[in-house]
Amino acid sequence: MLPDDLRTALDQVLSRYSPHDLSRSVALLTERYRAGHSAEGAHLRTEADIAAYAAYRMPATYAAAVTAMRQAAALTPGFAPRTHLDAGGGTGAAIWAASQIWPSLRHVTVVERDPDVIDLGKRLARTSPALRGATWRHASLRPGMGRPAADLVTMSYALGELREADRPEIVRWLAARAAMVLVVEPGTPAGHAVICAARDVLAADGMNIVAPCPHDGPCPIVPGRDWCHFSVRLPRSALHRRVKDATLSFEDEKFSYVAATADRRPRAGARILRHPRKRKGMVSLRLCTEENEIRDVVVTKRQGDLYRQARDAGWGDRWPRAE
Ligand SMILES: C[S@@+](CC[C@H](N)C(=O)[O-])C[C@H]1O[C@@H](n2cnc3c(N)ncnc32)[C@H](O)[C@@H]1O
Repeated sequence: MLPDDLRTALDQVLSRYSPHDLSRSVALLTERYRAGHSAEGAHLRTEADIAAYAAYRMPATYAAAVTAMRQAAALTPGFAPRTHLDAGGGTGAAIWAASQIWPSLRHVTVVERDPDVIDLGKRLARTSPALRGATWRHASLRPGMGRPAADLVTMSYALGELREADRPEIVRWLAARAAMVLVVEPGTPAGHAVICAARDVLAADGMNIVAPCPHDGPCPIVPGRDWCHFSVRLPRSALHRRVKDATLSFEDEKFSYVAATADRRPRAGARILRHPRKRKGMVSLRLCTEENEIRDVVVTKRQGDLYRQARDAGWGDRWPRAE
C-alpha cells in the first residue's frame, strides 16, 4: 500500500541498521505500548528506535491516514487543497497520505517536536517530488502558537499524546481558517474517546462533520460497550516481518477518525460500522445513520442492485440509505 518511492526510501534508511538493533528497538516499543503507554512517539530514544518506529508503525499509520482521507475526499468532491499543515507529523505518514489523495497540494508544513524524527522524515520526503519542498518546523504544539494558514489540517496518531486538558484548545487551533480538519487515532476505546472529544469541539466550532459520521449529533455509540473504529489491511514487507518478528504477510490496522469541513456539504445515507456479514442470499449490515442511530439491516437478494452493492461493500464504507 505504501507508495513505491516511500517504500524504497524506508528500505534504504533501514538497511543502515542491523536487523538485531531494529528488532530490539521494536520489542522495546511494543513492550512499552502494551504496558499502557499510548504515546509511542514519546519513547523514541535512539536513532535505531526512530528507524524501527518508521519500519513497524509508519506503514500502518500511513494506511490508516490514507483510508480516512479517501473516505473524506469521497464526500467532498471539488475540494482541491493547496496548503497542508500536519501537526505531530512524526516521520511524515500523513503528508505522504495526503499527497496521494490530493495531488493539488503545493505547500506542506509539518510541526514536530523531535528533531531526530524530523531528520528521518525529511530524508524520506526528499525522495518525493511532491514532498521534497515541505517545511519541517521543530516545535512543541501548544495552544495559541502561530501557524501558517492551511486548507487541509491533519493530526494523525498524535492528539492522544497531548495532555487531555490541552486537546480542546489544540483542536480549535487546528480548525482555525482550515477548509478541512482530519484527526486520526488508534482504533481503541481510548482512541475513539479522543476522536469523540475532538469531534465535539469541531462541531461546537461550527464545522461540518463529513466522515465517518453521517450526522452532526452526539455519537450514538455507548462508551464501555463499543467504540467506533475501522480497519485497513496492509501487506508487510520481508524486512517489516523480520523487524516485527512476525510470520503473517499482512496486518490489520484499526483506527478511529473524524473529518470536518468549514463549509456545509450535502449528506445522506449511513456508514457501515462492522465487516458486513455475508450469507447465502443476504448481507447483514450494522449502520450508523443520518438520524444518529445504530441500526442493523439485512439486504436480501430480492433487493437486486442494492444487494449487489451490499455484497461489494466493506467495513467503513458509506451506505446509500439508512434502512
Ligand atoms: C505516534 S507518532 C505519529 C506520527 C505521525 N503523525 C504518524 O501518523 O505516523 C506521534 C508524534 O507526535 C509527536 N508529538 C507528540 N506530542 C507533540 C507535541 N506536543 N508537539 C509536537 N509534536 C508532538 C511525537 O514526537 C511523534 O513524532
